[in-house]
Amino acid sequence: MGGTVVIKWGGGLITHKDQLCTVNSEVIQSLAKVCSNSSKRLVIVHGAGSFGHMKAKKFRLAEGRIESMNQDAAIESVRSDMKSLNKFVMDALEQVGVEAKSFPPHEWATGTGPNFEGELPIYHGVTVVFGDVVPHKEKEFGILSGDDLILRYSTELEGVERAVFAIGGVDGILRVPPENAGPEDLIEEWHPGVEFKGEHASEIDVTGGIGLKAARGAEISENGIDVILVNGEYPNRVLAAIEGESVIGTRILSGNS
Ligand code: IPE
Repeated sequence: MGGTVVIKWGGGLITHKDQLCTVNSEVIQSLAKVCSNSSKRLVIVHGAGSFGHMKAKKFRLAEGRIESMNQDAAIESVRSDMKSLNKFVMDALEQVGVEAKSFPPHEWATGTGPNFEGELPIYHGVTVVFGDVVPHKEKEFGILSGDDLILRYSTELEGVERAVFAIGGVDGILRVPPENAGPEDLIEEWHPGVEFKGEHASEIDVTGGIGLKAARGAEISENGIDVILVNGEYPNRVLAAIEGESVIGTRILSGNS
């Protein structure tokens, strides 16, 4: 078996983002198949999409405890929705014979952002974690994004070869908003300082959209690890990205490159 690759399956890729708790089973199955065909040891971090952002937004869970609101039922509900999404992922992996184990972050992580606390769980097969509502020392709870999980796994695990962000709807980071973009608008190599018009549906998302991925990607890259963002709707691109072959997408370089 080759080295380790940490891959994020974006929530907008594996769910239908505008319809509460609906999975994109076709995409999940195709990503699972890609994993079964890969020669690498994998850590999969998956996002939330419509299983997390909508309720988290409505009950302002990213802000922590707000006394005037009754948030307890919403915390439990988002955690249980995330467990159901995770079950779709785990079932798809099992169906193609991938031995995987999932570690819900609210059981082992505390705090949000890149400096959350907790020992990163790792499994001898495929390790699976996801964005979640986690305990927080000051705010009582908060939302830990999968983008922070991929940063920490990529930089702290031994032998990580690269980090891959598989996203939905776009081929990578684009110079112009996706609805106006043609193939020439794909930024093939991005580093902080290069401007782009990222779409961030802040009316839906409680975490950071493509901007957060780009920022976390650059931090990973600063640690000497290759980072690539690819359109996860094309399984062959995802596999090529995992294996380190050249592929349509955006390579993210560190701020110092
Ligand atoms: C968000 O996780 C978690 C919740 C809203 C519970 P991510 O930030 O990793 O999710 P996506 O990829 O944007 O959906």
